[in-house]
Amino acid sequence: MKIQRIGILGAGRAGTALARVAALSEIDVDIASTRTPQMMKYHLAQYAPQAHPVMAKDLARNAEVIVLMVPQEELDDVDRSMFSRSILIDATNRWHDEPVPAWFEDMLDAGLSSSEVVAARFAPARVVKAFNHISHWDLDADRTTRASGQRALGIASDDAAAAEITADLTTQLGFSPVILPNLKSGLILEPDGPVFNEVLDSAQLKKLMSS
Ligand SMILES: NC(=O)c1ccc[n+]([C@@H]2O[C@H](COP(=O)([O-])OP(=O)(O)OC[C@H]3O[C@@H](n4cnc5c(N)ncnc54)[C@H](OP(=O)(O)O)[C@@H]3O)[C@@H](O)[C@H]2O)c1
Repeated sequence: MKIQRIGILGAGRAGTALARVAALSEIDVDIASTRTPQMMKYHLAQYAPQAHPVMAKDLARNAEVIVLMVPQEELDDVDRSMFSRSILIDATNRWHDEPVPAWFEDMLDAGLSSSEVVAARFAPARVVKAFNHISHWDLDADRTTRASGQRALGIASDDAAAAEITADLTTQLGFSPVILPNLKSGLILEPDGPVFNEVLDSAQLKKLMSS
């Protein structure tokens, strides 16, 4: 499936880097933060000039896929119903020195991975874990491996169709997608895991996942 437009919630380092890469790949981008489109004007002119600023509540209106790039500590302020049944790519990371809302901590303590917490919180959105283990520097600058489609990015979801669509998006952006069995298995993509921020091709990523 060819993705025509994505939405990005979070217009910081990660969100604007993804917006720039998407623009290079001829994918339209709607982007939102806590600020109004007018307030984002100069920020986006500098960091993601081709992205279209929208109010967060309007992201699900046009985009086929929404990428969550807001720090987890801010997730209390993200409207739970905002994503409806959209595909929601969770690119956030659990950092142990980052305080998170009590509901987030409670679900982690109950044994959920951070993306499973996001999935529980934002249901019925179709949550996919992806784009979390590549830095904004590499998203932007790693053009050599991207151009040759070498760098592999892991994708984890309990929704097989949503994982496939995310894989298509990953390919369009110039990376090599590797689909993991389920959302829980996305734990391997998290900051303490062996693939985080590593430049790996598909074979290397699969090998690490099976070891
Ligand atoms: N930086 C990376 O290399 C990278 C790579 C992959 C994944 N990630 C993950 O992505 C997440 C964001 O990281 P970052 O480095 O991009 O952070 P950042 O530079 O601090 O940017 C955070 C963005 O989130 C927005 N935001 C905060 N609360 C919000 C809310 N309630 N609703 C909408 N937008 C909100 C902020 O908007 P305002 O400016 O309006 O406050 C800002 O645009 C983290 O979980 C991080 O681990 C980061």
